[in-house]
Amino acid sequence: MKEILYTTAVQVFDSENELTEPEQLLLVRAYEALSNAYVPYSGFHVGAAVLLANGAIESGANQENAAYPMCLCAERTALAVAAMRHPGIPVMSIAVRVRKKEGIISKPAGPCGACRQVLSEWEDRYNCNISVLLQGEKGVVFRIPNAKSLLPLSFDRSFL
Ligand code: THU
Repeated sequence: MKEILYTTAVQVFDSENELTEPEQLLLVRAYEALSNAYVPYSGFHVGAAVLLANGAIESGANQENAAYPMCLCAERTALAVAAMRHPGIPVMSIAVRVRKKEGIISKPAGPCGACRQVLSEWEDRYNCNISVLLQGEKGVVFRIPNAKSLLPLSFDRSFL
């Protein structure tokens, strides 16, 4: 028997002030996107902003549906907007912010499994790492240097 260990590096910052200016801007754009969330069912707002290799920033927010499984996550919404507006341009980084109806969220929320799978595909698609920035409404920021490390043993095109 042998054991394979997967590691995920999560860099923890006390606040956004410790990040680079482009990263701070991306977090602001993700925060702004929160107001475009359509969340009549969960009341949980998620905003995402992606930075592309051409310098553009696109954003997305979660869009819920009475048929719950049809809900669209903020991360995938932002990626789809980026793919449509900037065909063929890699995504370098994604920032995700969250807000709920009551109480202030001061801890970062990780992307759901489906979004991790999609981010992993995006890294393969453009053959580059996507750095993931996570922050609540305020407070500590997590930076994960590449999305794939959030989903060990992810399914990919090599199996097909
Ligand atoms: N949600 C996202 O937008 N992204 C995630 O990665 C996790 C969950 C949304 C889906 C739903 O609208 C709400 O958060 C509560 O699950």
